[in-house]
Amino acid sequence: MGSEGYVPLFETKKVKGSVIYKLFAVSIFVGICLIFVYRFSHIPREGEDGRWAWIGLFAAELWFSLFWVCTQALRWNRVYRCTFKDRLSQRYEVEFPRVDIFVCTADPTIEPPMMVINTVLSVLAYDYPTEKLSVYLSDDAGSDITFYALLEASHFAKEWIPYCKKFRVEPRSPEAYFLSISDQNDVNEEAKEFEAIKKLYEDMENRITRAAKRDQLTEEQRSKHKGFSQWDSYSSIRDHDTILQILIDGRDPNARDIEGYPLPTLVYFAREKRPQYPHNFKAGAMNALIRVSGKISNGQIIHNVDCDMYSNNSQSVRNALCFFMDEEKSQEVAFVQFSEGFKNVTKNEIYSSSFRVSIEVEFHGMDGNGGTPYIGSCCFHRRDTLCGRKFDKECTSKWYKENDPESEESSHELEAKSKVLASCTYEENTQWGKETGLKYGTPVEDMITGLSIQCKGWKSVYFNPERKAFIGLVPITLPQILVQHKRWSEGNFLILLSKYNPAWYALGKISLGLQLGYLKWSLWAPSCFATLYYSIIPSLYLLQDISLFPQYSSLWFIPFAYVISAKYSYSLVEFLWSGGTILGWWNEQRIWLYIRISSYLFAFIDAILKTAGFSDEAFAITSKVIDEDVSERYQKEILEFGASSPMFTIITTHALLNFFCFLRVVKKLTMDAADIRYLDRMAMQILLCVVIVLINWPLYQALFFRQDKGKMPSSLTLQSIGFALLACTCFVYLQ
Ligand SMILES: *[C@@H]1O[C@H](CO)[C@@H](O)[C@H](O)[C@H]1NC(C)=O
Ligand SMILES: *[C@@H]1O[C@H](CO)[C@@H](O)[C@H](O)[C@H]1NC(C)=O
Repeated sequence: MGSEGYVPLFETKKVKGSVIYKLFAVSIFVGICLIFVYRFSHIPREGEDGRWAWIGLFAAELWFSLFWVCTQALRWNRVYRCTFKDRLSQRYEVEFPRVDIFVCTADPTIEPPMMVINTVLSVLAYDYPTEKLSVYLSDDAGSDITFYALLEASHFAKEWIPYCKKFRVEPRSPEAYFLSISDQNDVNEEAKEFEAIKKLYEDMENRITRAAKRDQLTEEQRSKHKGFSQWDSYSSIRDHDTILQILIDGRDPNARDIEGYPLPTLVYFAREKRPQYPHNFKAGAMNALIRVSGKISNGQIIHNVDCDMYSNNSQSVRNALCFFMDEEKSQEVAFVQFSEGFKNVTKNEIYSSSFRVSIEVEFHGMDGNGGTPYIGSCCFHRRDTLCGRKFDKECTSKWYKENDPESEESSHELEAKSKVLASCTYEENTQWGKETGLKYGTPVEDMITGLSIQCKGWKSVYFNPERKAFIGLVPITLPQILVQHKRWSEGNFLILLSKYNPAWYALGKISLGLQLGYLKWSLWAPSCFATLYYSIIPSLYLLQDISLFPQYSSLWFIPFAYVISAKYSYSLVEFLWSGGTILGWWNEQRIWLYIRISSYLFAFIDAILKTAGFSDEAFAITSKVIDEDVSERYQKEILEFGASSPMFTIITTHALLNFFCFLRVVKKLTMDAADIRYLDRMAMQILLCVVIVLINWPLYQALFFRQDKGKMPSSLTLQSIGFALLACTCFVYLQ
């Protein structure tokens, strides 16, 4: 189609005021350079106090600056996208591509079947031609309870889908919908239907939760579907045949909802597992899904969501298609990454777990640089690019009309043929996990997969609507957060150590800005050292009154003051602009300190050990069983410690050490009658130490004042006091 009369399906807007931002960034850069000049020209001479500490600070500042440059790449070229769904529907309603939706689950105790089927139902009810929609549930636990829940969901869908369409229900996860509607007191038709469907849902919920609690199905329940016979040969989670069941076959003329309209296809799937074959976690499941779905429905678009989130907008597929079907700009789009919203986020976000700034700012910056990374869910892919296809300009805009699945086979034959594709040995001597599908061998397969697609010449799009399209859960205890960040930072750091290092793997294939953006994530783990150094050494030197920063009255103080105040004011403004609160921002500073000094440190060590071949797959899994008072404390925004962990030892020792140094300053100022020259010389160090102490305030409370179960265990408190005292003493006497 020529450009005459061309009306776009989506629009890309550059952020306003970027010139002002760029000037601001340049001014910070100048400040950073002046700091280096100062550091370099004032190194204490050989034999003078603090020479090595000085050089260390210099190194830490160099590291922070490198990191800062990478974060600029995420802010320099931000773009925002919007779509025109009505135009899409006018032009393409009858020739929409088929969409295959993957939902992955791995453990019925951590991810209860009710949660999983709410996710499934929310995507089954997308506002999209049902004959073109197929939903696959991949169950890596191979649990018959989950299968049973899905079977129940397939019956419920026959009522739920027409109900959603009739009343334009939003969101279409039944649980979220019923929670959002308080009791209807009307007696009209709609209220009656509401009560009826709610009753149906609750009955189903009762049956499923009862079965899940017993962890067993009754003979009667098993007799309801022949699919259960597939569990006869099941011996354990790590050892079973492929289980595959097409619960609703969209091609079957009898698969109708209660109003007589066709239903989407719904498939239960658990790939074969054997102890002697690596299963490659979620990436392995996704790759098996790609093959199996290719046989059954072969949708040209693949959409995947995690089972702990639900679709909050039934129009999401249409939004995504606007990016894939635009006649002029879509040819190079490989995937559309949606942003994620969260439920159960408290006002001031004590764990800063909603990634506000990443979602509202940084991903937009990546988008402007040529492509947001694939973050593992809430994403729409073109099937062919996910399977390793390179970008070429000749590829037509009618790609979505290719490859109809073989449709003569009965669903029984299809099941039998597809099972072969999910066997353990299928991938031997193939490119799966390397060039085809998702990449194996890292905990962040999504990042590498997205990067390699971009390196093949494709672009990606980031779509972040005001009303979030997907809603997930946030972790609600500190250990969960720390472990989550350890896994991510370790995975991203492993990318740096692998052949996919964005610095050279992507060199010349993607823009420099995008490379820097990826690098920022990869550099998370090693930045623990600079942070630990900067938050410990200057405080320790307070014990001996040795100054490591310019005097307050010196001109060199200005660049330090400027860089610090500019950086932090900007970060506060950005946080508020993204919808946060001031206290939320303060909480974020605390959590980032904790993550940097504990999660990143452990991530770094583990990654190095893994690369050197000393350990593999030592997965730290935290309990997700949340009891009542944990949830209550979370709602009240009280930090949750509760159990001992090496990460807590580091955080606590760090906090106490700073507190002891702070006490020394207090003593100096009150009892030793320090003069103004002391303050002048030590201003920066005192400030740093005071901020660290303030930020740790809730931690001191958990150590000494709290009585609830979420406080720091006393053994850990004693241990940390010991470590901190030892460190201070050693420092003073061994210097
Ligand atoms: C989310 O918050 C509600 C109360 O606001 C609570 O009942 C529910 O258990 C929480 N869910 C999780 C998973 O923490
Ligand atoms: C989810 O969708 C509802 C409308 O159904 C909307 O009111 C709500 O704000 C959305 N949630 C988020 C987090 O955007």
